[in-house]
This record gives sequence, structure tokens and C-alpha cells, in this order.
Amino acid sequence: QARTNQCFTLSNAFLNEYVFMVQARGIQFRENVKNLGAQVLEQVVRGAYSVNGTDYSYDFNFNDSDAPPTTYLPVGFTYFPSQICPERLPSMKGRLEVNMSEVSLEDVERSLLEVEPSMAFGGYWKPKDCIPRWKVAILVPFRNRHEHLPILLRHLVPVLQKQRLQFAFYVIEQSGTEPFNRAMLFNVGYKEAMKDLDWDCLVFHDVDHLMENDRNYYGCTNMPRHFAVKLDKYSYMLPYHEFFGGVSGLTVKQFKKINGFPNAFWGWGGEDDDLWNRVQFANYTVSRPHGDQGRYMSIPHHHRGEVQFLGRYSLLRHSKERQKVDGLNNLNYSPLVSRRPLYTNITVSLSRMLAPVADY
Ligand SMILES: *[C@@H]1O[C@H](CO)[C@@H](O)[C@H](O)[C@H]1NC(C)=O
Ligand SMILES: *[C@@H]1O[C@H](CO)[C@@H](O)[C@H](O)[C@H]1NC(C)=O
Ligand SMILES: *[C@@H]1O[C@H](CO)[C@@H](O)[C@H](O)[C@H]1NC(C)=O
Ligand SMILES: *[C@@H]1O[C@H](CO)[C@@H](O)[C@H](O)[C@H]1NC(C)=O
Ligand SMILES: *[C@@H]1O[C@H](CO)[C@@H](O)[C@H](O)[C@H]1NC(C)=O
Repeated sequence: QARTNQCFTLSNAFLNEYVFMVQARGIQFRENVKNLGAQVLEQVVRGAYSVNGTDYSYDFNFNDSDAPPTTYLPVGFTYFPSQICPERLPSMKGRLEVNMSEVSLEDVERSLLEVEPSMAFGGYWKPKDCIPRWKVAILVPFRNRHEHLPILLRHLVPVLQKQRLQFAFYVIEQSGTEPFNRAMLFNVGYKEAMKDLDWDCLVFHDVDHLMENDRNYYGCTNMPRHFAVKLDKYSYMLPYHEFFGGVSGLTVKQFKKINGFPNAFWGWGGEDDDLWNRVQFANYTVSRPHGDQGRYMSIPHHHRGEVQFLGRYSLLRHSKERQKVDGLNNLNYSPLVSRRPLYTNITVSLSRMLAPVADY
């Protein structure tokens, strides 16, 4: 089935097949996958970006042991309701268990509210024992993944509470028959979330990504942040230096400055690369969690009925010109908003007419 993919798609199937091939040939997997994997990926990615492969540069020489010494607060450290919450709490222990087994939304609602009755509708929560450092809107683009959402909420809500962040969840569901537009859903989610509260930090979160380390702090930083650095499906390697997919975060100020996400990417792929470009043009440098803090597992699935966006490479060549005219400033939509105990449901039908832009 992987054979039907064109070779330049950074597809899951391709990688799985590659990894399988390596194992099947008895090559010592651990020793070799980093080098071999990097070379194969580099070819795939170079092929994806340009014919002659000179548009981008790659750096695969990242080093796991360059993580800073941990300076987490000691167990028993006390803080006060009048103080800003510490960023490195003793309760953040690192490695997390990931439970991917399916569970009903009702069960998750019940069990999370049992532990934290102070959670309000929309999954809104705020610590009481200190002043939250960040007010974080978690935006989750959505279509046809009803079994994934409860798994994500069950996993992530307790972590955010441990991290002492103020937060709420916004699930932005695309209705209608147009190809999935992840980026435009994020723009809609941002605009709707800001009507609720003056959030200062935005986390753009795929529904199938589960963090493996609770020290991966979902507050923002003075630079846009890429949280999902090492994915199990990419053998825990950053697939390419400019990779900005899965889970990323920007302050509201940063997001406004870059005019949000592009609206022009219909079907999966490319919109995260365009966001990377936008961030560079605004002179930001993306920050990432160190070492194993950026590890994620993804819930296995296929891009069920979702087409990939083959026009993305030509759009990416004109990221800069498009940034000014395509994003938060050319977006119209009419959402249907409803609240559930753990998230706000923003359902929206999208079409190209809602984000008019001259052809690039
Ligand atoms: C890469 O190819 C493009 C057209 O395919 C060309 O315009 C550009 O000059 C080439 N770059 C280099 C460095 O050869
Ligand atoms: C990684 O960095 C550490 C400390 O900077 C160094 O001792 C080690 O040799 C490096 N490893 C590799 C594979 O470059
Ligand atoms: C994982 O979730 C399932 C379904 O909710 C539950 O039955 C099981 O005990 C959980 N496993 C662990 C290790 O917590
Ligand atoms: C980025 O930096 C360059 C060079 O310093 C400057 O010319 C440009 O105006 C800056 N762009 C933005 C959006 O701040
Ligand atoms: C969101 O609301 C729409 C319309 O009421 C509904 O069809 C859909 O199933 C809801 N989605 C989620 C994820 O709750």
C-alpha cells in the first residue's frame, strides 16, 4: 500500500515500511537507524521542497545529551496563592505512561471532573494555589476522529493541571465536504477562543499526539515553540530541521504578528511548513524542548478519506508574498459553537470563498 504513495510524501506508511525493511534485513536497528533514517529522510524532504534541493538546509547532527541540567524544584517546595506559579514544579516528574486504549467521552468527563470538580464547561481550569503564568487556549482541529479526542483529553488534562497552567480546550470541527484545512481551523479556533477570554498563549495540537514527558511545558516562550520534536512514527527523530507539525505554540502577540496560519492549504500537508516560514520572516527563532522532553506517541490511524495537498510545494515558494494577504486578515466564517464539559465545540464549514486571496 505504501507503494502507491509518491516518493516525496513524508508518509507514515513509507517510514513504517522503511523501518520494517531495516529490521527485516537484520541490520542492528538502534545503531543504524539514526544515520540511515536521516539520510533517507533528507532525500525525501529535499525531494519534497525543490528539484535541485538547494532551497533549504538540514541539520541532523542534533545531540540528545545536550539537555540542560534539570533544575526542578524540590519535593515539598511551597508557593503562595499570591505568587506566579513556578514553571518547573516538583510534580512534573518526566516520563509519562501513555494509554491509547479507547474510552468513551462520557467516562473521561466523569473521571476528570471527579478528580477536579473545579473544571468548568469547555474544559476551563485555573490553579487556585498560585497565579498561572500563562493562559493557554488549546486548539484541536478535528474531523472524523471521535475515538481519539477522549484519549487526548484523558492524557493531557491532568498534565496541564500539574503544570499549573490556566487553560481550556477548543475543538474546531470541519463540516462540509471540502478537503481538511487544518490551518484555517486553527485561525477560526483562535478568533473564537479570544471571544471567551484574553488568552495569551496558543497551543496548536493535533488530536492524535500524546506527549510522553510532563516536563514538556505547554506555556509559551519569547519565541514560537515547537513541542512535538520526536515522534514515535518518525523513529523519534526530527524529520527535518524546519519541521513544525504536530504540536506547536505561539503567544497571541506572535500569532498576530505573523497573520496567523495560511488559509490556502486544502488537504493535509504543507501548512506547518508555511507557518515555519512565516515565523522566520518575522525574525523569530523557533525554540524546542530539550532531549527526551519533546517525545510523543501518535495514535495509529490512516488519513481516512483525507486527501493530501499536492499543491503545497508551489504555495510554499511564495510564503512571503502570501503572508500579508492570507491568514487572520482575509478570513470569514460562520461557526456553530456549543460547550461540552471538557471542550468548546466550534463546528464550521469551510470553503475557498471564505478566505479570498489572489492566486500565487
Ligand atoms: C534551483 O532550481 C530553480 C528552478 O528549478 C532555479 O531557479 C534555481 O536557480 C536553482 N538553484 C540553484 C542554486 O541551482
Ligand atoms: C553530545 O554532547 C556531549 C556533551 O556536549 C558530548 O560529550 C558527546 O560526545 C556528544 N555526542 C555526540 C554523538 O556528538
Ligand atoms: C487504559 O485505559 C483503559 C480504558 O479506559 C483502562 O481500562 C486501563 O486500565 C488503562 N490502562 C492503564 C495502564 O491505566
Ligand atoms: C527582520 O530583520 C531584518 C534584518 O534585520 C529587517 O530588515 C526586517 O525588517 C525584519 N523583519 C521584521 C518583520 O521585523
Ligand atoms: C460538534 O458539534 C457538531 C454540531 O452540533 C456535532 O455534529 C459534532 O459531533 C460535535 N463534535 C464534537 C467533536 O463534539
